[in-house]
Amino acid sequence: MIHHDAERRLWVLSGPSCSYVVRLDDADRPRVLHWGRRLTAEQAASLLPPEPPYRPVEDSAEGTCDLAAAGGLSYGDAGLRVRFADGTRDLELVHTGHHRTDRELVLAYADRHYPLAVECHYRLYDDSDVIERHLVVRNAGEPVTVVRADSATWVLPRLNDYRLSSVRGQWGAETRLHRAGLPYGETVLTSRRGVTSHQANPWAMVDDGTAGEEHAAVYSCALAWSGSWRLTAQRLPAERVTLSAGAGHDPVTFELGTGEELVTPVCAGLYAEGGFGAAGRAWHDYQLRHVLPHPGETRPVLYNSWEATGFEVSLEGQTRLAELAARMGVELFVMDDGWFGARTHDAAGLGDWRPNPRRFPDGLAPLIDRVHELGMRFGLWVEPEMVNPDSDLYRAHPDWVVHRPHRTRTEHRNQLVLDLSRPQVADWLYRTLDELLAKNDIDFLKWDMNRPFTEAGPDERLWTGHVHALYDVLDRLRAGHPQVRVESCSSGGGRVDLGILRRTDQVWTSDNTDALDRLEIQHGFSQLYPARVMGAWVTDSPNPYTGREVPLDFRFHVAMAGVLGVGGTLTDWSEAELARAAELVAAYKRIRPIVQHGRQYRLLPPDGELSAVQYLARDGAQVAFLAFRRARRFGHAEPGIPLRDLDPGARYRDAATGRIHHGAVLLSHGLFPDLAPGDYASAMVHLIRE
Ligand code: DGJ
Repeated sequence: MIHHDAERRLWVLSGPSCSYVVRLDDADRPRVLHWGRRLTAEQAASLLPPEPPYRPVEDSAEGTCDLAAAGGLSYGDAGLRVRFADGTRDLELVHTGHHRTDRELVLAYADRHYPLAVECHYRLYDDSDVIERHLVVRNAGEPVTVVRADSATWVLPRLNDYRLSSVRGQWGAETRLHRAGLPYGETVLTSRRGVTSHQANPWAMVDDGTAGEEHAAVYSCALAWSGSWRLTAQRLPAERVTLSAGAGHDPVTFELGTGEELVTPVCAGLYAEGGFGAAGRAWHDYQLRHVLPHPGETRPVLYNSWEATGFEVSLEGQTRLAELAARMGVELFVMDDGWFGARTHDAAGLGDWRPNPRRFPDGLAPLIDRVHELGMRFGLWVEPEMVNPDSDLYRAHPDWVVHRPHRTRTEHRNQLVLDLSRPQVADWLYRTLDELLAKNDIDFLKWDMNRPFTEAGPDERLWTGHVHALYDVLDRLRAGHPQVRVESCSSGGGRVDLGILRRTDQVWTSDNTDALDRLEIQHGFSQLYPARVMGAWVTDSPNPYTGREVPLDFRFHVAMAGVLGVGGTLTDWSEAELARAAELVAAYKRIRPIVQHGRQYRLLPPDGELSAVQYLARDGAQVAFLAFRRARRFGHAEPGIPLRDLDPGARYRDAATGRIHHGAVLLSHGLFPDLAPGDYASAMVHLIRE
């Protein structure tokens, strides 16, 4: 709901339990008076403007504006910064009007002198406290350089202290949660790689340093963008804090020609009470309701051939794996890299999206038909934004790649990035994949992207143009092939964000499939993203990346916390392992609706001896509980792990043992998981309300 108080020049944007209040001051600056619990119009009207004590040569509006435009005495982090054709760098925006519906608000501004218009767009939902926000910048004058156009600048209220939560990572170690006091100055989270990145993810949360999983207020924002990005958490000496995020990175700028407009991606903001758990669940719900293309669907159990076969791909080998996977209860068989062109290693073939004639002399049909006969769907790996110099595509179009003359060419993984910002290249990519999907009965694409941009320029539009073209190709392919589902992958979790999730169905979380490392990666992932999109495979032991030996049940239980997949060398698994795996796949299918569509509670974090996660069905009638003991220390007996949000008066039956648990006891004393003695013990409990 959006309320406008014309007399006070104030707008109140309210979700089900939060309000965001903006008021124009005498200089037309949109000052944020409130972001927090829901207020009535009358309560909002009583809010006082945020005036810190007067200090000479300081702008009292600093750190309080919803649209932070560079200019005048404002020296802080500016979400909007331009350079006019005559060299002027200060913006002087005046309010020119607003447009409002029940769920959408546009606040319009224009520069006092130059013909540059700026619109702030807000969107609300009836069932979510997430507020979506983006900017439109329109230039009717001489070309303007947009130095920065953040989608949103979120202004926090004064808190006793400020703590920043975000995720850091690397290849094979993505989304590791980092929580630390917010220093004074500007903390910049960014990707300069042309892709979302493993190193940081475009979201941040701030609390007053006291929030836990289940209590206190958390302020957060997340950017829906899959290219380079920048998120600045600013803490001013006057104890004002802002979170500002947008596409692009320093020092890339954007030329806005006469008559052109720039539409930024969405940056969504969320105020949540009830700690990081409540914030995470609110973000999950938002994605399940308003971001994912088919949120109601249940993701199938998949098998992926990469760790089993690498580039050693053959019809016989893949068929054998498919047969073993089908016996296990797998529902989607995905053939990974190595099926096309001259791709028998990573230095050739990328770009030539035709089946390798020696490996698949009759095309893909024999394998696809066999997979379908086995009752599974068929998925195929592609990496369409890339080319190996040793490929027919490159030989025909050497000029299609991102590269500058007179610069060394960084051929990371022996490949180059195709410049999708060029319409001809994007069009080729669309036609090639459209034909691949039209000619083959493919149900699923694993869409990979294995290297960042290097030696880019001079056209700055590459950075945003590539991403827009990617989105456009994905949208067109999905429209033309509505049965196809897509997994976003970028050497594991290098392209996970709200932008790609709008047009993909799940993501490959990390190339690191070690179950113990995964507990931490998944914990960080779940801070913002739901289990419904988190691809998790069970692979071989010892793990190929870490060499760690972990029991099969533990590996399965960890992967059951998301979208279960299997990626092991099944031909090497014993009959007993294959049989146990089939039991565990069947068990996952029973709890899958709760995991994929329910609400998630991180009961115990992964850094302790014991960690646990709970999923609760939306109607509260079923619980899936997963507990992990990484190492047994001093022979301690495990404590009970209290569950959350159960009905205290209800009885819950353990689906496996028939044992009855009382809600009130589970809430206070907890569940005592039946863990085997020793290290790497795990348990899955499925409870059904009687
Ligand atoms: C990187 C992905 O993350 C892997 O799962 C696999 O698909 C390889 N690329 C294939 O080259």
